[in-house]
Amino acid sequence: MTSAPQEALWQAIHDRSTIYHFTPDPLPTGAVDQLIEAATWAPNHRLTEPWRFVVVAGESKQALAQLRGDLARQRAEREGRGLDRVAAQVAEFDEPPVYLYVVQQLAGDDSRQREDYAACAIAAYIVQLTAHSMGIGARWGTGLMATDPAVHRFLGLESEQQIVCFLGLGYERPSDRRVRSRRQAAELTRYLGALAAR
Ligand SMILES: Cc1cc2nc3c(=O)[nH]c(=O)nc-3n(C[C@H](O)[C@H](O)[C@H](O)COP(=O)(O)O)c2cc1C
Repeated sequence: MTSAPQEALWQAIHDRSTIYHFTPDPLPTGAVDQLIEAATWAPNHRLTEPWRFVVVAGESKQALAQLRGDLARQRAEREGRGLDRVAAQVAEFDEPPVYLYVVQQLAGDDSRQREDYAACAIAAYIVQLTAHSMGIGARWGTGLMATDPAVHRFLGLESEQQIVCFLGLGYERPSDRRVRSRRQAAELTRYLGALAAR
């Protein structure tokens, strides 16, 4: 019996990377639905299926990018900063043709909410990994556009829901790629007890 992961799976895990610049090309029909379907197969404790999804595209995505600008301006004014970066922030936010918001249904006690949050994060990663396998780039976003109540309202979320992340989806626009690296697994791991050699 081999203990090596399948080559294709290993490559996908290793080669998937955050995409920072997108072309304006739309995604093929059905691609987003396929990504969401994949996400729903994420493990989740007690089968709470805590995820909800909101897809933002077309004129709604443009409106969301405008909201990005409004929030950035408000924050800059609050913090006494200039507005010189706002236009670039809006342009950057507007790049991916689609945003997929991953939303957690808030229910139960702290322990359940932690577990449900973890399940939603796995679902988001499955979207990224599946997108990669389809030649589609993804960028995980958090911060203002995940936490501001105005975004919550824009998406029509209920009070018992929280945004886990928003995934920008689209085709990669070639740009300078970062060098990706990770620490060696052995540096991060303590082994208690001997692994049986087989
Ligand atoms: C919980 C979480 C939050 C993240 N938030 C952001 C973000 O707000 N903006 C961003 O550009 N990238 C964000 N990222 C992407 C990470 O920066 C990225 O995964 C990291 O740099 C590693 O790069 P890789 O995805 O190419 O392996 C986030 C990722 C995770 C898992």
